[in-house]
Amino acid sequence: MPIRSIDVIYRWQDDLPDLTQTAVIVIDTLRATTTIAAILANGARAVLPVGEVERAYRMKEQDPALILGGERDNRPLPGFDAGNSPYDYPPDVVRGRRVVLTTTNGTQAVERAQGARWQGLGALVNARAAAAAQQQGSGQGLIVCAGTQGHVSLEDVLAAGAIAWHWPQEACSDRALIARALFDNWRGRLYEGVSQSGHARTLIDQGIGADVQFASRLDMYKTAVVRTAGGWFEETAPES
Ligand code: MLT
Repeated sequence: MPIRSIDVIYRWQDDLPDLTQTAVIVIDTLRATTTIAAILANGARAVLPVGEVERAYRMKEQDPALILGGERDNRPLPGFDAGNSPYDYPPDVVRGRRVVLTTTNGTQAVERAQGARWQGLGALVNARAAAAAQQQGSGQGLIVCAGTQGHVSLEDVLAAGAIAWHWPQEACSDRALIARALFDNWRGRLYEGVSQSGHARTLIDQGIGADVQFASRLDMYKTAVVRTAGGWFEETAPES
C-alpha cells in the first residue's frame, strides 16, 4: 500500500473527513483501547465496543456466554461481569470468550469511525503494531483520539504521536507532527507524561493508578487490534 498521509484528530467530536478510503485508528489510552488490547492479548476471541449501556445489556440477554464489561464515571456497572481495567480480564477468565465493552467516551469514538475503509484500535501498549497494521489497511491514515469529557487529552495525543512516529515524516500533517513532538518529549519516561494528564489524576485519586502505569507501557503487545467484517475487533499480527 503506497504511503500517502497521516493525520490526527484530537477529539472524536471534531469534524471527520470522508473515511471511505482511510485507515482509522481510534485511541483511548485511559482506558478503553488499552484494556481492549489486553483483553485480546489475554486470549479473548473478539471484543465489541458499544456506546450504549442498554445495547450491552440486550446483547448479554440474547447471549449469556458474553462477558459484559465497562464503566460509567470510571466505575463498573450493575450486573456487569467486569469493569474497564485491563486487570479485570485475566487469561483464565477471557480465553476463548467474546467481550462486549461500553465506556463513557472511548466506545463512542469507536462507533463514530465506523464508516472507515479499515479500522483499528491503538494505545501506547500496541503503538508499533497498530501503525504497521494501519499502513497495510490504507496508505491514507487517520488517528482519532477519544479525549476526555469533550476535551483534548494528553495521554491520547501521546499515543497518537507514538503511532504517527512509524509513518514517514513527510507523510505527517501538522497535527501528526505536533503529536510526534509530544511523544518524543516524553519517550523513555512515558508514565511521567501520562500520569500528569487530567484523566490519569482522576484515576489515581480513585485508587486506580495501576491502570495508568499499565497504559504507559510502550509496545508491550506486538499484535494489532483490527475490526472484522462482523464489526467485532480481533487481534492480528501485522505482516512484516
Ligand atoms: C472512557 O471511555 O471514557 C474511558 O475509557 C474511561 C475510563 O477510564 O474508564
